[in-house]
Amino acid sequence: MSYTNKMVVLALTISTFMGCKDNNQVAVLESKTENSIEQKVDSLLKLMTVEEKVGQMNQYNGFWDVTGPTPTEGNAEKKYEHLKKGWVGSMLNVKGVENVKTVQKIAVEESRLGIPLIIGFDVIHGYKTLSPIPLAESASWDLEAIKNSASVGAAEASAAGINWTFAPMVDISQDAKWGRVMEGGGEDPYLGSKIAQARVNGFQGDDLTKPNTIAACAKHFAAYGFGEAGKEYNTVDISGATLHNLVLPPFKAAADANVKTFMNGFNDLNGIPATSNSFLQRDILKGKWNWNGFVVSDWASIGEIATWGRAKDKRDAAKLAVTAGSDMDMESYAYIEELANLVKDGTIDESLLDDAVKRILRVKFELGLFEDPYRYCDKAREKEVIGNKKHHDAVLDMAKKSIVLLKNENNLLPLKKEGQKIALIGALASDKNSPLGSWRLASDDNTAVSVLEGMQKYKGNNLVYKKGADVTVGKTAFTKELHINTTDKSEFNDAIAAAKQADVVVMVLGEHGFQSGEGRSRTNLQLPGVQQELLEAVYKANKNIVLVLNNGRPLAITWADKHIPAIVEAWQLGTQTGNAVAEVLYGDYNPSGKLPMTFPRNVGQTPIYYNHKSTGRPVPMADTTMVFWTHYSDVENSPLYPFGHGLSYTDFKYKNLKLSKTSAAVGEAITVSVDVTNTGKLDGKEVVQLYIRDFVGSIVRPVKELKGFELVPLKTGETKTIKFTLDDSTLGFFDNNGNYLVEAGEFKIFVGGSSKTSLEANFELK
Ligand code: NOJ
Repeated sequence: MSYTNKMVVLALTISTFMGCKDNNQVAVLESKTENSIEQKVDSLLKLMTVEEKVGQMNQYNGFWDVTGPTPTEGNAEKKYEHLKKGWVGSMLNVKGVENVKTVQKIAVEESRLGIPLIIGFDVIHGYKTLSPIPLAESASWDLEAIKNSASVGAAEASAAGINWTFAPMVDISQDAKWGRVMEGGGEDPYLGSKIAQARVNGFQGDDLTKPNTIAACAKHFAAYGFGEAGKEYNTVDISGATLHNLVLPPFKAAADANVKTFMNGFNDLNGIPATSNSFLQRDILKGKWNWNGFVVSDWASIGEIATWGRAKDKRDAAKLAVTAGSDMDMESYAYIEELANLVKDGTIDESLLDDAVKRILRVKFELGLFEDPYRYCDKAREKEVIGNKKHHDAVLDMAKKSIVLLKNENNLLPLKKEGQKIALIGALASDKNSPLGSWRLASDDNTAVSVLEGMQKYKGNNLVYKKGADVTVGKTAFTKELHINTTDKSEFNDAIAAAKQADVVVMVLGEHGFQSGEGRSRTNLQLPGVQQELLEAVYKANKNIVLVLNNGRPLAITWADKHIPAIVEAWQLGTQTGNAVAEVLYGDYNPSGKLPMTFPRNVGQTPIYYNHKSTGRPVPMADTTMVFWTHYSDVENSPLYPFGHGLSYTDFKYKNLKLSKTSAAVGEAITVSVDVTNTGKLDGKEVVQLYIRDFVGSIVRPVKELKGFELVPLKTGETKTIKFTLDDSTLGFFDNNGNYLVEAGEFKIFVGGSSKTSLEANFELK
């Protein structure tokens, strides 16, 4: 934006303020000489009518294209009128400089006060150039890479006019049946908190006024990941201790990282819908945590308070939501239709609106939108930044780091680069759409590098591709039904014939990208459709199989684990999927990913997670024929792959676990050190993990809890000493009332390369 333009915008904003017939002009003029955002916010608030205040709390979905209100969008004309009146504070799903500029211009130049819009968008794992889905990124345990991936998303989105992302989703989830596990950091609150901070820092950068940084949003506050039975939009009933120890820590971490916004959830929490939950939003978030950003509702969720049966109608819902601290209404029309009347008839106090509006204006000031509402609307930048080579390199790097080697018998991997006959089988191997996942609002369909394309770049081998079976038939767009092929085996024979001729078979099987994500819970965690049958049929022809999994959640691949010698977890890795997978398969990249969620043996074990509590009957009694202990009679308790599991093409050995002291007073720190050696033949990286167990507590404690990790690069033969510190911040826990307790007693420390750790030591807290 040129200097002249900036001045025009400023002049316009000031003249709009001065032209208004409000007696408080002086206050605004004063605010021009003040530096503090708080004073500017206060001055502006004084000029606003009740309707304009409500307007700031109203968010509309995009309805505008460059030629006018989009005819297909319901209420377009009405929304346009509201925009001109200053009755819209934010829009979502408007993208591209041209479109953003168009709506921003109306808000800034046609409304009475000229308050700029904040433009929101779901930049979940990138904008146009897509990184791996968040669950996959979390498998890297590489906080720098995760932060960088978020900053790539921010750079592209901001170049398209967007200044606010509805990410990161920091919901802890233990149930693989829930479709949205793909969008989070997995099952662990410690890892989840670190990832939440990395993502917030990546989106927001060190200066929010920069044109390549955007406001982030910690969502979905709170406990959306604990929906009963893994079913989407379902009820949540959890204890206070679970809320405080598992659900809230990543949100607190995001708040500590100065995340500018929160979004609440579609769920209820113990009977109170999150959107109307004063305890969560007023007592904890804005009270105890003293957080000063704003809370946006989820789509239509304010209206849904009535659907839950917690409010009698929309008016009641609006009252409950605003009282509970929901500051902005995403598309339920409850605020715009009801709030002004609720104030005018004295049902609610205007100070509730003032609090919400101040929070919203504050973020707009912090983004620099008042200084230049078109800060994010630079056409040249849009052209130069979106999809540039640097971003492709960054998402490729992230994709490689996200891959987890689950199994590798007899070093079947890496593949030889020459002289092998390879049969590549599976519809997902050639799919350029599925690897983009279900969140890709701004990315073009079919733009991922497929595994087939990635492998074709290695020309030294004879590569034959056969589909074998479809995963999907028909359309897979957001609202359309996803059809899974459950019957067609007509191409099995071609695949079997190719496998018979091959030295090694690579099979890319799993879920389509549209089988996980919002609204996509499953009760079956096996390979969908006829893929399991295909796998078994090919196995009969050639046992030398490398199974490459594509999926947005843990799958129950128990048969494969028993029979298939090599298994690679490749999730949905975004735009550069095929290049990343090929580099790992051929050994140009040594995998170091570790699972952020436990993989079950079968769906009946879910929710299954490593940090479960002890029970009164935890292990077989002396007589193991007895049935009276915590177990199933048809499957063992252990998972198929534990949390934190992941192999490398090299080997790591752990030794010399040492504690700085074996007994410490509450409040004292303890240092834990361990030597890790790369004993294999390749350079590699290992995620060194530290867990604790608190044996006796005033409430029952988990059998293990992650309390430290470090991603350590080790050259072949190299040893490093890794140190961790344990103190009050890691040794305590919350009780059911949210009190943080550090209790004296005996603890165990575990260190190793997964939650099934190798080394242990005890200490006592006195
Ligand atoms: C609903 C989803 O739950 C939320 O995460 C998302 O940000 C909004 N829709 C906006 O698209």
